[in-house]
Amino acid sequence: MSPEYSLRSLLLIILATFSANASNWLYLAKLSSVGSISEEETCEKLKGLIQRQVQMCKRNLEVMDSVRRGAQLAIEECQYQFRNRRWNCSTLDTLPVFGKVVTQGTREAAFVYAISSAGVAFAVTRACSSGELDKCGCDRTVQGGSAQGFQWSGCSDNIAYGVAFSQSFVDIRERSKGASSNRALMNLHNNEAGRKAILNNMRVECKCHGVSGSCEFKTCWKAMPPFRKVGNVLKEKFDGATEVEQSEIGSTKVLVPKNSQFKPHTDEDLVYLDSSPDFCEHDLKNGVLGTSGRQCNKTSKAIDGCELMCCGRGFHTDQVEVVERCSCKFHWCCSVKCKPCHRLLEIHTCRCPPPPPPPPPPPLPVMQPLFH
Ligand SMILES: *[C@@H]1O[C@H](CO)[C@@H](O)[C@H](O)[C@H]1NC(C)=O
Ligand SMILES: *[C@@H]1O[C@H](CO)[C@@H](O)[C@H](O)[C@H]1NC(C)=O
Repeated sequence: MSPEYSLRSLLLIILATFSANASNWLYLAKLSSVGSISEEETCEKLKGLIQRQVQMCKRNLEVMDSVRRGAQLAIEECQYQFRNRRWNCSTLDTLPVFGKVVTQGTREAAFVYAISSAGVAFAVTRACSSGELDKCGCDRTVQGGSAQGFQWSGCSDNIAYGVAFSQSFVDIRERSKGASSNRALMNLHNNEAGRKAILNNMRVECKCHGVSGSCEFKTCWKAMPPFRKVGNVLKEKFDGATEVEQSEIGSTKVLVPKNSQFKPHTDEDLVYLDSSPDFCEHDLKNGVLGTSGRQCNKTSKAIDGCELMCCGRGFHTDQVEVVERCSCKFHWCCSVKCKPCHRLLEIHTCRCPPPPPPPPPPPLPVMQPLFH
């Protein structure tokens, strides 16, 4: 290897590490509570934060518990949305939380970045509305009469504050110097798409006022969608994610679809750079648990079906007895009595990979004839 070549590859490794671990702050989700972050020194001990996030932590101590909550929401939602896929969003107890799965620019990484930045925006906004934070409260700019004839009033979710906080905290690494690398552009795009999934799905909630429940007067406010809705939207974006590559418009670097036949992605779409591994084999070094031992659906032809889930290794079937409540009767007043019913359920589980072949038996000792 020429010295010049090795220097270049070293630089590439440093650059890759630089933007690849931009999700390390998700490690906050592993803390049982940072409600106890009441002192600035605690910020320096938090694992996974880069120096500029530590500075933000010190300046926004009261918001940090929402950041932790946002990270937890994101991981829970990711595990729900991916429960039937080969990679089920499993986390490790080390950094990065999702292993190398998110250090490559895959669609899985795109989803993780989007749901995490949405998680922070959501949790911070929630905390504003519930009056937990001194720095923000409800959005009182939503006031007055509406075209539909109701009154805006009450506590509208202050999504602008939550989104702005998420932009500063989550995007901070990419917004610093290395912001023109492919990966930084990908992360920034997906972070923004995650926040858009909340912004574009804000809803109007109302309360009726009037004589005996009539809806003579209606007061309404703007509310965030439930986080499950955000997860559903982003999972759809994951399924239709666009593979992109870098291009230059003037002197600005941008991501464009790799296949020029495809229509360009919008701000709300997810984009990725690298194709995903198949996630079949156990590969702890890369944070992939593999699919042996996973439950699968015998009749499904989709990714949750045994054929695809088990990567063709086969599966085994166990019968388990489940006890359910049945023949329930309502008794006046007021109880419901049920009988226990026993039902046999078949559970299909992906087989483990075949064990390595046993070592060949030792050669038989050559018998020396004792007598001739
Ligand atoms: C994900 O799959 C692994 C096996 O590959 C299993 O041990 C783990 O419990 C699953 N996690 C979730 C959250 O479903
Ligand atoms: C298995 O897949 C079939 C076909 O997609 C579906 O109808 C069924 O509800 C699934 N079963 C379970 C237990 O998820």
